Amino acid sequence: PGLPEQAVAAAPPPARRVWRHARVATLADARGWGLIERGAIVTEDARIAWIGTEADLPALGKAAVEEHDLGGALLTPGLVDAHTHLVYGGHRAHEFELRLQGASYEDIARAGGGIRSTVAATRAASEDELFALASRRLRTLRDGGVTTVEIKSGYGLSFEDEARCLRVARRLGQTGVGVVTTSLAAHALPPEFEGRADDYIAAVCAWLPKWHSQGLVDAVDAFCERIAFSPAQVERVFETAKSLGLPVKLHAEQLSDSGGAELAARFKALSCDHIEFLSDAGVAAMRAAGTVAMLLPGAFHFLRETRLPPIAALREAGVAMAVSTDHNPGTSPTLSLPLMIHLACVDFRLTPEEAVRGATVNAARALGLADRGTLAAGQRADFALWDHEHPRELAYWFGHPACRGTVVGAT
Ligand code: NIG
Ligand code: FE
Repeated sequence: PGLPEQAVAAAPPPARRVWRHARVATLADARGWGLIERGAIVTEDARIAWIGTEADLPALGKAAVEEHDLGGALLTPGLVDAHTHLVYGGHRAHEFELRLQGASYEDIARAGGGIRSTVAATRAASEDELFALASRRLRTLRDGGVTTVEIKSGYGLSFEDEARCLRVARRLGQTGVGVVTTSLAAHALPPEFEGRADDYIAAVCAWLPKWHSQGLVDAVDAFCERIAFSPAQVERVFETAKSLGLPVKLHAEQLSDSGGAELAARFKALSCDHIEFLSDAGVAAMRAAGTVAMLLPGAFHFLRETRLPPIAALREAGVAMAVSTDHNPGTSPTLSLPLMIHLACVDFRLTPEEAVRGATVNAARALGLADRGTLAAGQRADFALWDHEHPRELAYWFGHPACRGTVVGAT
């Protein structure tokens, strides 16, 4: 039964808050930081109602308003980490040592280590253990300014183990950070399907509608690589996603060029991720499809890669570039998105503004979210506060925390 008429009429007014005395970088225009000196923001519940200079603050009447003096801090949109593998058991420090002694990531994967070793550790952990591990990681990401995070499955690789990881991700979304889930069941071949990759892909295509009907999946990803799945296999997963109305994205061209980006673009993918070996044809296809280039400098650094993503070609083509942590135990065990902003500048030659846009507005776009990543009336009230004078310092300082705090949905 619906609420009685008076109860609706007596619904409480929105919680109104004023955030004043900040230097604000809105990123609201296509170019520039959108700096507001002595800025102020009025929020109503989880949304921005007004943004401008303190001098122009509208009269807010007698309604109760919560006041926050930000003490001159720099305020930016909350950071968006649009590519993480946050839910897993164990770690792979021993493989890191092996690689330092000369073994390659592919050698280790072919010898049965790599993703498969994390799958074994993930299957051995309980759902509550996975939640406890991942929520500590999420807390650290948030301490670095992150207010929305994408979380992939991909270390369960069975119907129930993948569902467990996706449920953990959904639960994390109740803990004060925005969470978007992605099924990455097509991440690696689980041992029980050894020699039967096509059968595994068929199983994934049968499982996806069930996970989706349980409300566990917001998007679908795959690993297209010679040590993972072929374009033809990825295409079958994408066809299933399409039939469910789910957006796709792809781990593409990380270790070699297999034409994954062109395939993903045909499915109007939200993003192509890694793309160190992206070809000119891949750039053109992404441009035509409006697909975001997801740059992951943490994995590039940790794998000691030398082949750079084609940044100049992407920039020239006007392909939007995003930057994320790719947090995972095998190729990017970092929990600092500000550090990735720094590496994107030093190693990939992004400008500080490009890198900060990459971790805010373009990362939101890579998740299909238009309501965050910039600060403007109507946008979500997700903020990060920094001990900086200017937003270019987000790219300059590295390896130590400068985030004073975050606000997610104005709380
Ligand atoms: O984004 N490239 C594939 N997936 C992950 C690594 C997974 C792992 O090694 O555990 C990545 O780099
Ligand atoms: Fe990844």
